[in-house]
Amino acid sequence: MNVLIIGSGGREHAFAWKIAQSPKLTKLYIAPGNAGTAQAGTNVNLQVTDFEGIRQFVLENNINMVVVGPEDPLVNGIHDFFLADDQLKNIPVIGPKKDGAILEGSKEFSKRFMQKHGVPTAAYQSFTAENLEEGYAFLETLTPPFVLKADGLAAGKGVLIINDLEEAKSELKNMVAEAKFGTASSTVVIEEFLKGIELSVFVLTDGENYKILPSAKDYKRIGEGDTGLNTGGMGAISPVPFADEAFLRKVEERIVKPTINGLKADGIDYKGFIFIGLMNDNGEPSVVEYNVRMGDPETEVVIPRIKSDLLDLFEGVAHRTLGEKTFELDERTATTVMLVSGGYPEAYEKGKIMTGFETIENSIPFHAGTKQDAGHVVTSGGRVLALTSFGSDIRDALSKSFANAERINFDKKYYRSDIGFDLV
Ligand code: AMP
Ligand code: GLY
Repeated sequence: MNVLIIGSGGREHAFAWKIAQSPKLTKLYIAPGNAGTAQAGTNVNLQVTDFEGIRQFVLENNINMVVVGPEDPLVNGIHDFFLADDQLKNIPVIGPKKDGAILEGSKEFSKRFMQKHGVPTAAYQSFTAENLEEGYAFLETLTPPFVLKADGLAAGKGVLIINDLEEAKSELKNMVAEAKFGTASSTVVIEEFLKGIELSVFVLTDGENYKILPSAKDYKRIGEGDTGLNTGGMGAISPVPFADEAFLRKVEERIVKPTINGLKADGIDYKGFIFIGLMNDNGEPSVVEYNVRMGDPETEVVIPRIKSDLLDLFEGVAHRTLGEKTFELDERTATTVMLVSGGYPEAYEKGKIMTGFETIENSIPFHAGTKQDAGHVVTSGGRVLALTSFGSDIRDALSKSFANAERINFDKKYYRSDIGFDLV
């Protein structure tokens, strides 16, 4: 089977690394990929939303399956684009169509979906410039902190958590009336603040059957002790110790099943990953958000813990036979520590030469923002390299990730040396 992966981050390198191990694979391509994916397959110089370019490549190279990493092409309808084309329509796309991707593309839609199908989530209301005054009144009924969410995709920046009522009102106005996040914030969801500790659960579904993948916790803030600006994620751990069997059973019964059944009931034929962001409040789960893709860097700890053939599972998704597929997990703990460019998530420099790859021991280096340049691997993004390790417990796995974080060098390298601090 010839497979094309769409995307260029650590998530896509983890997919490529895993798929390259499949006996079902003939040729693997990654568009556009990075210096790491080039070791697992062949990079193709195409942007993720260049559907025409992807179409031509798929036809010329006899691609038999397309695996979509990021949300952008999904929300923009890459799967629908394939189905609408006579020559592409029988080539499976792993990732939902637009009607499913809207679970991530619109917070208002996903809140309504959860409410309709009885999935536990924070109480909410949504507002536009037309009913701004009602938005102010709603804020007055809530106790701080106030949670304001841009309805649309805002590159992970569209959520504001504000302690002061007047500031919350003024930010609401900025969002709906002054396009703080462009058209993404012309509708704003205001919701109740959820207490507790966050984790993520990932589900792979063929629209009928599902497999619950390992849970993971990521570390979003740039600074030690979860301080400073939000990033895409500075590290991750799987499994999550506080997500024990009893908790995960509640997640399956109260959240996963109603979600899968709700999609079916609403006529949304969903084939792909569902990333469920959860709050655990004293053992009670509620949903913070859905994403319609895998998380990054969560993928870098979740995928290595899947022992079964990922392509075989994807075939199950494509042919709605996921229920018949074997699904085995590695019981060990996996951790990943992300090396980033100094300055990230604000301005940072690119093009720094990276060294030390040959000294890595006992970790899998998953490339994120890297590229090959005149015989060197150089940095090409904020998040640069995820170092994933296995261990008997979190401490054991982390000691390997941290040791290798020291072995890789590039100018202005930074990483959080306290990943997992709250769990050990
Ligand atoms: P989201 O993009 O919806 O995941 O929100 C980004 C982050 O904001 C989440 O990962 C949470 O840390 C936080 N957050 C979002 N909604 C809530 C909520 N209702 N209560 C508490 N924290 C929240
Ligand atoms: N690490 C969080 C995300 O991928 O959205």
